[in-house]
Amino acid sequence: MGTVGIVLPGPAAFDAWRDQARRVLAAGVPPEDVEWRVVGEAAGLFTGSAAGPDGRAAPPAAPKAPPVAVPRAFPALAEVAIRHRDPERFALLYRVLWRLTHGAHGLLEDRADPDVNRVEAMAKSVRRDAHKMHAFLRFRCIQAEGGPHYLAWFEPDHHILQAEADFFVRRFAGLRWSIITPEASAHWDGSALRFGPGGNRHDVPREDAVEDLWRTYYASIFNPARLKPAAMRAEMPKKYWRNMPETRDIPRLIAEAPARAAEMVARGATTPALRRQRDIWSARAGGGDVHPAAAEGVAPGMDLLAPRDPAEALAALRAEVLADHSLAWAAQATQAVFGEGPIGARLLFVGEQPGDEEDIAGRPFVGPAGRLFDRALAEVGIPRAETYVTNAVKHFKYTPTGRRRIHQSPDAGDIAHYRPFLRREIEIVGPRLVVSLGASALRALTGKAVAVGKARGQVLALPDAPPVFPTVHPSYLLRLPDAAAKAAEYQRFLADLRAAAAVALG
Ligand code: URA
Repeated sequence: MGTVGIVLPGPAAFDAWRDQARRVLAAGVPPEDVEWRVVGEAAGLFTGSAAGPDGRAAPPAAPKAPPVAVPRAFPALAEVAIRHRDPERFALLYRVLWRLTHGAHGLLEDRADPDVNRVEAMAKSVRRDAHKMHAFLRFRCIQAEGGPHYLAWFEPDHHILQAEADFFVRRFAGLRWSIITPEASAHWDGSALRFGPGGNRHDVPREDAVEDLWRTYYASIFNPARLKPAAMRAEMPKKYWRNMPETRDIPRLIAEAPARAAEMVARGATTPALRRQRDIWSARAGGGDVHPAAAEGVAPGMDLLAPRDPAEALAALRAEVLADHSLAWAAQATQAVFGEGPIGARLLFVGEQPGDEEDIAGRPFVGPAGRLFDRALAEVGIPRAETYVTNAVKHFKYTPTGRRRIHQSPDAGDIAHYRPFLRREIEIVGPRLVVSLGASALRALTGKAVAVGKARGQVLALPDAPPVFPTVHPSYLLRLPDAAAKAAEYQRFLADLRAAAAVALG
């Protein structure tokens, strides 16, 4: 048949690529005989026979080819990798598909294989680009017909706009906005999303009133004692700076950092309240000078620099959690989910991690487990609004399978990663009792694996934190298949809540 030319309707048109790939696969066309391009792109040189309208063989005609059996991970991986800017991505993916269906079914397990390696690296780069877009895109407000309209200019490395637009729809559903990139634009009018042509940086105004807010906010969370300019530049490449109002202050903040840090430490050393706090830390650390924050891997002196007002401290911690993108898997979460409830709540609940609904809502315990939890609290007369509810792990960890996101339990490393955040959160809220819901929470609080079944219902004293009262996780109750067992376990859970309330509120 000679070379087959396939023209795809867009640079990341996964569905079209998949349909065409199935067709050429069913027709037995080997990878080296297929040439892929995107509509509007110039065709390359080829030596085909049976030429189509643009000089090459037309793709095998309908009927639509049936799905092919490939490992489940492949479509999910291909759907992400296809957004990569590499012009060879379509051909590479087809070659992997070909090999998977021609005797190398286990190919994806072979990370040393150059094709697999390249696809994985592409997907990783695309995910990183998406993460940068979530974190660094900034809207400017303009007054348009019908009210304010928010405009953002962003230069992604890859073809991610279509895939990521949903993220911004979820996050800014109530606003009217447009995101302009060099290649395409996305527009949300409050009810429908539409895509259009690309634009120019000058299409988006650079100044507006929102900027001062961003700048004040950033300056207030900028901690001079934790300054790591190299890490900062690696995480936030300069290309994004010019679109981010707060970055205009970075050179000044960096220049002032050493003096500010020294001044704050000096102030800390002479402030009685801080001296007292340091004495407490010192006593907790066995009289030595090991700062508990240092034990947690936080720069010593950092807590001396923490805002004095607990609400401000909690807001700053929340901003730190939202800006924490150090775990690769966390980049696929919609957002970090921080705790909620009043500072000073006597009872603080710790769950495992946000689930699907929490990830979208940005609030803990609002999905099925949260509804059961709410019902149980109401039944024992504990107003949830008077408690503080949070999670050990702040991002939703999941495995994407088709349209569904399947919960994946955090491992010990994940829990350890978020532990310093959790400990500071608890310290700021200052509860009388912390109730751990399930094993991950108990591990996060105690720092080790403890069997919930054994510790349940006891008040565990901890050396440097409020006591912990372990019980089961509400999703455990949801999962019990037997109705009688479920009812009995639910009653036990209520009894635990009553006991915890008696300790904390009595
Ligand atoms: N499960 C949890 O542990 N936390 C939530 O926020 C939701 C479900």
